[in-house]
Amino acid sequence: MIAPPKKLYQSGFFVYCNVKFFISVIFFFCGWLSLSFGQSIDSDWWKSTTVYQIYPRSFYDTDGDGLGDLNGIIQKLDHVKSLGFETIWISPFFLSPQRDFGYDISDYHSIAPEYGDMETCLKLIAEVHARNMKIVFDLVMNHTSDEHAWFKESSSNKENEKADWYVWKDGKGKHGQKPPNNWKATIGGSGWHWHEGRKQFYWASFLEFQPDLNYSNPEVKNAMLDVARHWLSKGVDGFRLDIFNSIYEDTSFHNNPGSLKIIPSEESPDGFFQKMKYNVNQKGSFEFATELRAVVDSFQNPSRFMVGEVFGDVETTKKFCSYDGKNGLHTIFLFKTLSTPFKAKKWRNMVEEFETNFPEPYVPTYVFSNHDRRRSITPLGNDVRKAKLLAFFQFTVRGIPFTYYGEELGIEKPTLPLKTGLDPLAQRYKSIPQFMVSWTGQSLNRDECRTPMLWDTRQNAGFTSGEPWLPVAENFNEINVQTQEADSTSLMNFYKRVIALRNKNPVLREGTLTIDEELSSGDIFAFYRELNDVKFLILMNFSEREIQLKQLSSELFFSTHSSINLHSLQPLEGRILKVE
Ligand code: GLC
Repeated sequence: MIAPPKKLYQSGFFVYCNVKFFISVIFFFCGWLSLSFGQSIDSDWWKSTTVYQIYPRSFYDTDGDGLGDLNGIIQKLDHVKSLGFETIWISPFFLSPQRDFGYDISDYHSIAPEYGDMETCLKLIAEVHARNMKIVFDLVMNHTSDEHAWFKESSSNKENEKADWYVWKDGKGKHGQKPPNNWKATIGGSGWHWHEGRKQFYWASFLEFQPDLNYSNPEVKNAMLDVARHWLSKGVDGFRLDIFNSIYEDTSFHNNPGSLKIIPSEESPDGFFQKMKYNVNQKGSFEFATELRAVVDSFQNPSRFMVGEVFGDVETTKKFCSYDGKNGLHTIFLFKTLSTPFKAKKWRNMVEEFETNFPEPYVPTYVFSNHDRRRSITPLGNDVRKAKLLAFFQFTVRGIPFTYYGEELGIEKPTLPLKTGLDPLAQRYKSIPQFMVSWTGQSLNRDECRTPMLWDTRQNAGFTSGEPWLPVAENFNEINVQTQEADSTSLMNFYKRVIALRNKNPVLREGTLTIDEELSSGDIFAFYRELNDVKFLILMNFSEREIQLKQLSSELFFSTHSSINLHSLQPLEGRILKVE
């Protein structure tokens, strides 16, 4: 090496250059280290990830108590990785009386003993990262369990330090025993509940034993932001935020106006003849999303992610991602997917709406089932061909795909009677006749969506050596991981193929999306994905008949079907063409 002239050598400029070089080397080394040892430093990792939702109680039981556990998740991580998923989201496993199976938390810092302990939880985070995957926790910020120490203190009298931590109001009427206003809970009935100790009502957006926290009190807000900080500092990669659009209530407590809507839907929380004007989708909740984002963004390398469970039309709920020009949640669930019929035109319109409202840098989500909703194969009449086309769409469209455990196997929805349901919603509605339940199209007994994962053909489908907490699907001999692994044409192996395709092709992960208006007609939905100089044409035939194709000068890249005809689309075929 030629020595620099002495003067330059001693000058500040030279020292500056050397320091810069040294810093670059360190950064390069750290980047290499993090990539090699599991942590991507890409701050936009969430935009192109794929998420697998695990309901811990039903996934895999390692201690024979009939309930899945964290250790079980650790043991099955290699399997989830082998499917190709990059992120897992786990429904809550914190200390809880389990009246709503974990969505009623009594201590945000402890693990429910039936699921494991803190050591196992930290091990789980480490094991996920060791596989270069991400782990997202389910954070219930809107409410606690009524057994949380905060609620116990708050409800003990009107003067204690936490007296204002929940939404308390005096009642109306002569003896103050009528609810303060007409607000309905999101599941129907008044959301106000009388507390004999305080001689007041408290507000609960969901069930009676899940009192809403009072976010107008800065102490509450800070306490909950600290809960988020706590888990982020343990290395958790982000949160799924439970009923996030119910966080704030309007402090005027005006009555809600009437509505003709009977049942709330994914796209509108209005229902029970009421517009949820003052208790849902409030300005305060949009603003809180930006505050939470600032906290989450203070954790970097790797950056973290949030997805909100919110209900309402796409235009309103997108405010959770961007309000007053500020960044909020990274993304939200767009639940229109759950109710959109399996028809080319309907899906085309849905994609157009999502693209219009969530253009780059926003990313829409595509979710077809979860622990509250039956798996996607049910509305498809348990037709595996349709389930394959759905998966083909989900992993080729621009967006974040969420798959609910067992969806990749095509686990069918059992019919479990409301009367004997363990789900608190089933208990609440147990007097409703079964035919009316079917009429609503909803699972009022969410046990039906939460039955055990089907691993193999052993007793209880290999889920537990004990007595499973919910019945195991009767047809587990045909539908289980082991059997589908061995069958190259199975739904699970199709998921593997299509996820691998997405993982390997940046154009499917990050490319832009444009609908082909001309080709999208009748039973065909067609769109392009494009990145740099790669362009794919995605074609889907939603019908049971073969459809002739115009002469396309494109190269066949992928098909859902093994035997294809270049001049026509087979019934229910999904195809990718590489456009020159
Ligand atoms: C969300 C959860 C649901 C839970 C409710 C109350 O909707 O998905 O399972 O019961 O919030 O926390």
